[in-house]
Amino acid sequence: MSVAIKNMDKAILKHLRDWFRKSAADLPWRLSDLDAPRDPYAVWISETMLQQTQVSTVRDYFVRWMKRFPDIETLAAADENEVFRYWQGLGYYSRARNILKTAKIINQQKMDGSRRLRLQDDNKATMPTTRKELEALPGIGAYTAGAILSLAYHQQEAILDGNLVRIFSRLYALDFLPTESKDALKTYWDYAREIADSPKAYIHNEALMELGRTVCKIKNPDCASCPFQKVCRAALENRTAEFPPSKKHIQKDWHGTVLVIESSDHKILAIHGGQKFFKNQFTLPHFESQRNATAGIPAQAETYFNTDLVTSVQCIGKFKHNITVHKMECDVLHIQLRSKAPVRNHSAKTAHEIQWIKREEAQEFFANSFCLKALALL
Ligand code: ADE
Repeated sequence: MSVAIKNMDKAILKHLRDWFRKSAADLPWRLSDLDAPRDPYAVWISETMLQQTQVSTVRDYFVRWMKRFPDIETLAAADENEVFRYWQGLGYYSRARNILKTAKIINQQKMDGSRRLRLQDDNKATMPTTRKELEALPGIGAYTAGAILSLAYHQQEAILDGNLVRIFSRLYALDFLPTESKDALKTYWDYAREIADSPKAYIHNEALMELGRTVCKIKNPDCASCPFQKVCRAALENRTAEFPPSKKHIQKDWHGTVLVIESSDHKILAIHGGQKFFKNQFTLPHFESQRNATAGIPAQAETYFNTDLVTSVQCIGKFKHNITVHKMECDVLHIQLRSKAPVRNHSAKTAHEIQWIKREEAQEFFANSFCLKALALL
């Protein structure tokens, strides 16, 4: 499985840079000078928006956002509802919630001087400059940290997203996905690090994202325009359609139960942490279970409330869903409680946080299709 890293030819990387300088689209988060370091705050916002949303959609959202929240201080002082309004339509609201949390953390660190913050010339707070500090902040993972460090601070730090996975899979004819195993993930990151091992990492990284978006597309890649055309194994062997391998070959069946727990005042329990999926956002409680094993109150539900409070338990249907390699089928169990929702409930013991969401606000709150499919059965 593990693939020896071949030294990426320096001449090929120059092709990549030349291609990007010629082809880079004019995007609002890009500077006209592609070699100028970017504002780390703007990189953070744009790359977070771009994680699950297309460039064409993000453009206007990014411009509007930067007008209203031009820096961390302004954002940290904003009301969550207003932040959500500026995010509305981008989906995955946990991203907006995390952005606000992180802005508040950084701003607080500036105010109380608890971390030696890098301040911009105008004494504004800005993003940390190390991967460790960045990845400790809500919503910032390996990709976003790598993007901020390379694009804004010009550090030799790698990024890996779906675009780069597709490019590496074709370039080196990798017949596995990074989601398959730790080794597989490491192989992809090793290739990403090899390309970022250069003072020009900032341009290599962004050129790869652009290449994935415009040339090395999922369907009908435009190999004739590609700076890697002379070295790409999949292109040379006329096998681009085979890479990356389809998820179907590696899918694992997973059967589970999703709980829609409702209080007497029509609020639904949302949980953060301690779940199989959606580790960094609020979700409906869920766990692996046997098919049709939905008679009575499942033991897992007892973690969240006193079972004496239950007035009814009903299987309201099932849905199918795929997450990474998991081909899922879930029973949805509606559990009605006789009591009102408690105001707030933290459980240090089980490392999860609970919130109660009004039924009519649940669609917007959960905003991921796994939860929406379960809620649709209500
Ligand atoms: N996709 C994600 N980030 C991108 C970027 N900076 N440029 C082009 N496409 C992207």
